[in-house]
Amino acid sequence: MNVLLIGGGGREHAMAWKIAQSSLLDELYVSPGNPGTVRHGRNVALDLNDHKKLRAFLLEKRIQIVVVGPEAPLVDGLHDRISEDPQLAGVTVIGPKKSGARLEGSKDFAKEFMFRHNIPTAAHRSFGKGELKAAIEHIERSPAPYVIKADGLASGKGVVITSDKKEAASVLKDMLEGGRFGAAGERVVIEQFLKGIEVSTFLITDGESFKMLPPAKDYKRIGVGDTGPNTGGMGAVSPVPFADKDFMQKVHDRVAAPTIRGLKKDGIPYSGFLFMGLMNVNGEPYVIEYNVRLGDPETQAILPRLRSDLLDLFEGIASGTLSERHVDVDDRTAVTIVLANAGYPENFATGNPVIGLELVREAYVFQSGTAQKDDRLVTSGGRVLSVTSFGKDLEQAILAAQRSAALIEFEGKYLRSDIGFDLVKQPSTRSAPPVAR
Ligand code: AMP
Ligand code: GLY
Repeated sequence: MNVLLIGGGGREHAMAWKIAQSSLLDELYVSPGNPGTVRHGRNVALDLNDHKKLRAFLLEKRIQIVVVGPEAPLVDGLHDRISEDPQLAGVTVIGPKKSGARLEGSKDFAKEFMFRHNIPTAAHRSFGKGELKAAIEHIERSPAPYVIKADGLASGKGVVITSDKKEAASVLKDMLEGGRFGAAGERVVIEQFLKGIEVSTFLITDGESFKMLPPAKDYKRIGVGDTGPNTGGMGAVSPVPFADKDFMQKVHDRVAAPTIRGLKKDGIPYSGFLFMGLMNVNGEPYVIEYNVRLGDPETQAILPRLRSDLLDLFEGIASGTLSERHVDVDDRTAVTIVLANAGYPENFATGNPVIGLELVREAYVFQSGTAQKDDRLVTSGGRVLSVTSFGKDLEQAILAAQRSAALIEFEGKYLRSDIGFDLVKQPSTRSAPPVAR
């Protein structure tokens, strides 16, 4: 099979690495890719909005599968454009059409969908332009803290959580009337605050059946101990001790299955990945958000654990036979640590040499914010790369990932030194001391 993978981050490097291991693969192209994906396929620069050129490329290279890493091209209708083109009838897109991508593209749509299909989520109200007064009145009546979300895509920055009524009112004003987050903020969702611990869960579906993929915990804040501003994600651990068998069964029965059934009922075709961002509230899963893609950096922890052939699962989507495929997962723990640029998620320098990758022996290195400058690898983004290590237990995996992260150097290297620490079992202080006989 010939495959085109869209994207150029660490998630796509991990996907390219995994796809390249498939015996079903003939040629892999990655657009735009990064210096890491070059090892697994050919990087090509395609303008996804130039449909004619894209069509010519897909036909010339006889592409059968287009895998879309990030959400934006899906929300933008890339899948629709390909499937409406009679010349591209043989091309399968891994990722939903515009209608399904609304699960991520509109928080209001996602909340209404969950409400309609009885999927557990925080209670909410949504307000549009001209409804500022009603939104503020709603805050006045509700208990703190207040969770305020811009309706549209805002690169993970469209959420404000505050206990201060005045701040809440000014955020609402900024979004609904001040143009904060642009069109994405013209509608806002105000949610009940959920107290718990977050976990990222994933499935792959052909629209009829679905398979759960391993869950992961993401570390969203920039600072040690979950402090400072939100980032795209600073590390990941998979599996997640508190997302045990019981919890994952609830996720399957109460979230994943009703979501796929709901999409069918609503006449929304859906193929590809679905990311269910959950809050574990006293052992009960509540959906915080849907994403119509895999997570970054969760993918870098999950795919190394996936024993099954990813391309075989894609083939299952292409032929509508995903139910006959198997998802086989390595039991070991994988820990991913992101090496970022000092100053991320705000301003940071780029163009600094990245060295030491060849010294890494006990981790996979997945690149994201890197560029090739002559014969040198240099930094080009906020999250530069990530390392993923296995261990016989969580502690060993953390240590291996830390040792590997220490071997790579670039000016301004920043990483969270506490990835996974919160999940390491504390020795029980209540157990009785050994009895001497
Ligand atoms: P989102 O962009 O919807 O994933 O929200 C960003 C972050 O805000 C999440 O990762 C959570 O940490 C937090 N968050 C979102 N919704 C809620 C909620 N209803 N209760 C508590 N925290 C939330
Ligand atoms: N790591 C969170 C995300 O990919 O949205």
